Amino acid sequence: MDIQNEQLDHWTNPEYGHEYIERNNFADWKLKLGVRGFRRILKGLEFQSLLEVGSNIGLNLWYISEWAKKYSKPKELHAVEPFKEAYDVLISQKSLNLNQAINCSGYELPFAGETVDVVMTHGVLIHVAPENLKRMTDEIVRVARKYVICTEYFSHEPCEVTYKGKEHLIFKRDFGKWYLDNYPNLKCINYGFLWQQEYCDKTKPHPYGTVFDDLNWWVFEKK
Ligand SMILES: C[S@@+](CC[C@H](N)C(=O)[O-])C[C@H]1O[C@@H](n2cnc3c(N)ncnc32)[C@H](O)[C@@H]1O
Repeated sequence: MDIQNEQLDHWTNPEYGHEYIERNNFADWKLKLGVRGFRRILKGLEFQSLLEVGSNIGLNLWYISEWAKKYSKPKELHAVEPFKEAYDVLISQKSLNLNQAINCSGYELPFAGETVDVVMTHGVLIHVAPENLKRMTDEIVRVARKYVICTEYFSHEPCEVTYKGKEHLIFKRDFGKWYLDNYPNLKCINYGFLWQQEYCDKTKPHPYGTVFDDLNWWVFEKK
């Protein structure tokens, strides 16, 4: 049984969720910057399939599919997204060539163990309350056959951040350390930082001109 909670209620709320899509929609100028970001993150990884948990409308999958085309690396792409409106936009994007998209949360991934080479989150674990985080990352690690990729906001100490005056929506921590501390079968093979300064169109006002916020990323290999 899937779990429902305050954070998921927020993300699946049509009013908030719609506003997020409006702010973070497809735009041609984003593609080059997005591909550049994922070229760094995916560098040197050998994989055929990738699942994004919490994909929203699929911007990252768009960058990844274009990266795959550009470097002749055909990939099988999968997505999981709990917000119905975002999911509907996602599956309408025929150019993404998604193998599978599922309208559900990441607490119970409908995939058998070790069936997708890469399982990734990008700005999603920060929206999971600390008491639920292990459940979500257990699922991610269970489904991943080769690699787990985590791209999230960083804080040395776990903390909650008030977002537009609202509480219980953003929780930062050292997510790299979280994976290493909780999963001895993972080895960190790469990490880096997506610096907003590099991934924005400076002619547009923030946040409309930003492809990636300031985000730390880690790539873990399953031992
Ligand atoms: C900040 S957005 C990031 C979207 C996308 N990953 C990106 O980088 O463009 C957070 C996304 O996580 C999804 N989300 C929130 N809670 C989730 C959960 N428990 N399981 C899976 N996805 C979740 C939201 O619906 C939303 O699409």
